[in-house]
Amino acid sequence: QAGGPYTDPDNGINFFGYTELAHGVTYGYVFPPLVSTGSNSTEFIGEIVAPIAAKWAGVSPGGQMLHNLLLVAWPNGNSIVSSARYATDYVQPTAMTGPVLTTLPSSKVNSTHWKWVYRCQNCVTWSTADGAQSLPIGDFGVPAWAYSSVAVDTPSNPQSTFLEHTDFGFFGLDFSTAHVSAALYNNWAA
Ligand code: HEM
Repeated sequence: QAGGPYTDPDNGINFFGYTELAHGVTYGYVFPPLVSTGSNSTEFIGEIVAPIAAKWAGVSPGGQMLHNLLLVAWPNGNSIVSSARYATDYVQPTAMTGPVLTTLPSSKVNSTHWKWVYRCQNCVTWSTADGAQSLPIGDFGVPAWAYSSVAVDTPSNPQSTFLEHTDFGFFGLDFSTAHVSAALYNNWAA
């Protein structure tokens, strides 16, 4: 399955992503422009739009669970609780230091869906005891998603423990095309 451009009608953001068919969850990304000289920005905006049956959902933009930036979110009352996690084994991922997550205003919870729209800074490159890693923002990638029909243990706590995903999957995404102008990006990131 290949992801492509779509516009979220709620916030007008031009995302690049995919709606997976098993659970109807949409996963989107959009990046600041690639530069021809100097260093690229290390942030992106993303969203997870999930039917209320999704008790938590997460992404690995790098496409693997291990040694990768993992983002997880779930609804708690009318708000979204989220965190960046990291795992070096197929066990409970723990807090990842470095990424700075901001939940953007178009995030919401209603009777049918929850939506997490987020800005993720320090999220394109990261460095841990495993070494330096980065997302292929100028290239084709295979981002992954993780989904669970089982609620986390303490929904109010961003670092809550939870059980293994009940499903996961992947889609192809040409990250090289998933960039917008600085003006658009900065407007959406505010
Ligand atoms: C794969 C365990 C949380 C993303 C796997 C596999 C296991 C596992 C055993 C291999 C399954 C297989 O190959 O059939 C767990 C446990 C978790 C957890 C016990 C929490 C208690 C997460 C989270 C994410 C994630 C939070 C993302 C946000 C993935 C992905 C795969 C995967 C993308 C498939 C690719 C790969 O094997 O790297 N997980 N996981 N997992 N997990 Fe997790």
